[in-house]
Amino acid sequence: MEYQTIKGEKVPSLGLGTYRLTGGACVRAVERGLQVGYRHLDTAQMYGNEAEVGRGIRGSGVDRGEIFLTTKVWPSDFAHDRVTSKTRESLKKLGTDYVDLLLMHWPGDGVPLGETLGAMRELQEEGGVLHIGVSNFSPSLVEEATEHAEVFCNQVQYHPYRNQNALRDQAQKLDYLLTAYTPLSRGGVQDDATLRKIGEAHGKTATQVALRWLVQQDRVSAIPKATSEEHLKENLDVFDFELSEEEMDRISSLSR
Ligand SMILES: NC(=O)c1ccc[n+]([C@@H]2O[C@H](COP(=O)([O-])OP(=O)(O)OC[C@H]3O[C@@H](n4cnc5c(N)ncnc54)[C@H](OP(=O)(O)O)[C@@H]3O)[C@@H](O)[C@H]2O)c1
Repeated sequence: MEYQTIKGEKVPSLGLGTYRLTGGACVRAVERGLQVGYRHLDTAQMYGNEAEVGRGIRGSGVDRGEIFLTTKVWPSDFAHDRVTSKTRESLKKLGTDYVDLLLMHWPGDGVPLGETLGAMRELQEEGGVLHIGVSNFSPSLVEEATEHAEVFCNQVQYHPYRNQNALRDQAQKLDYLLTAYTPLSRGGVQDDATLRKIGEAHGKTATQVALRWLVQQDRVSAIPKATSEEHLKENLDVFDFELSEEEMDRISSLSR
């Protein structure tokens, strides 16, 4: 595993996404993921699977303290009291005293940003949330958010077909984690000819090249979702090779 250092704290560069994972399949994917070496998990209140993620953590035998755990608040819950009550519910469901990161899932409309982030700061002061962040925020919205809280992360769609140059530059400047969701373009990268060709030179798959391209960037983490042990392991196995600058550029130019 490699780590990104954000505001002096180490975050595992690769995490496990859990969107659309529910029931026993979710419990098993989280359990297996942790057992094969994942130490970073991504869920959300909207996913309806926090209890299963919590069960997976406990079933894995891995110490809670070793895991970087993220959940998110949905926009319909951005009013102050909803943020606090829904997040306390999350902690109960997850079976933990704290989450490492709490995100605003999408920009809201209606509730002032300061109210939502203020409620998140209160949870932080109580110790139920270690870091605060946002998701699907533009650079200007991130800038606005920093007036109300120390922004640790912005989670956005990021993969070889979707460039995020402006946010990447901002993440360096403001020292936040840019977390790439849908990093495999929902499985779509696996047949890409360019990624395959680059992979052949390193003995890696197209999927592994796409993930390596992300985590090799400064302050970027990726959270691919996977169910089978084969996919879980394949996606984690990206820390024993390095892409050249030329290869990194070639992948960046796939963006459309
Ligand atoms: N903040 C937001 O608004 C937001 C939005 C979307 C997603 N997310 C987060 O980001 C996570 C990842 O995004 P995603 O789930 O949408 O898409 P993704 O990770 O890009 O793709 C997941 C798909 O790829 C398949 N896959 C996984 N590993 C593979 C491999 N090695 N080879 C071939 N196929 C593979 C999975 O199949 P199997 O499951 O069968 O292995 C699944 O169908 C989500 O789970 C969620 O936690 C956040």
